[in-house]
Amino acid sequence: MTVATPKHFLQVSDFTRDELDHLFARTRWIKDRFKRYELYQPLRDRTLAMVFEKASTRTRVSFEAGMNQLGGIAINLNRGDTQLSRGEPIEDVARVISRMVDVVMIRTFGQDLIERFAAHSRVPVINGLTNEYHPCQILADVYTYVEHRGSIAGRTVAWVGDGNNVCNTWLQAAAILGFTVHVATPSGYAVDAAIAGPYRDHFRAFADPMEACRGADLVTTDVWTSMGFEAENDARRRAFADWMVDADMMRQAKPDALFMHCLPAHRGEEVAADVIDGPQSVVWDEAENRLHAQKALLEYLVCGRVDP
Ligand code: CP
Ligand code: NVA
Repeated sequence: MTVATPKHFLQVSDFTRDELDHLFARTRWIKDRFKRYELYQPLRDRTLAMVFEKASTRTRVSFEAGMNQLGGIAINLNRGDTQLSRGEPIEDVARVISRMVDVVMIRTFGQDLIERFAAHSRVPVINGLTNEYHPCQILADVYTYVEHRGSIAGRTVAWVGDGNNVCNTWLQAAAILGFTVHVATPSGYAVDAAIAGPYRDHFRAFADPMEACRGADLVTTDVWTSMGFEAENDARRRAFADWMVDADMMRQAKPDALFMHCLPAHRGEEVAADVIDGPQSVVWDEAENRLHAQKALLEYLVCGRVDP
């Protein structure tokens, strides 16, 4: 039997601007309907398999709740419970799982692992976070910006902290959606040149986070130590000691600038409590929008383009 090559979401750059705009419109439609308690179940009898090789709160709950709300079911597979932990090749796992379910979400380490899984999958594969990218997070973040402030095109996003997976994903979104990212990282923690290179017209690197925040429409940060890098914890604490987003830093941004954080957050490390819990912070809307944005993504990958 010939199986058509499925559409995957392994990086934001897998989608065109038109596709992203479609997802944002569908996110709004799906969220509004959900808030009115109106059933919308285009994924009845459909199954999502979720493979977690790293911890999660938001990604796990939003995908499982979202799949249920769309009428389908989700199966959770933690690495230790699967034969992956006993050395089964990821290509074989992909071949088997994708004959049994309609869509797969994976959170893993190297991007190469998810690429290998997708290359052997009959069904769409979603990146639920890798060392390199976190595309579902940025779908929700851009949607949250648009919900609060309108189009993100032409705006400036200040990234303060580690040049990590979430930062890389902001750069991809900037190139596709037409905004600029000011990236301020301590020495030794800059974005990977190979990843950032294609986006050089859409970001500027800063050594001083105060400079990076000047005039920004959105200030955002993330943990100093991402999952998988715990052995570097002590060195990172020293390197990032002056890199907390605090009220002084927020004052450099525009008066109506928003603050975002993908969460989990560490108050007193990458962000001061009065910023994350203050009036410019939209982190709870941002977290909630993971649910709505991923429902739009699941609908698109499983059903194709649905117009209301
Ligand atoms: N932001 C995010 O992906 O959170 P989790 O690690 O809890 O899924
Ligand atoms: N950069 C963080 C994001 C967590 C959601 C990590 O990879 O651990």
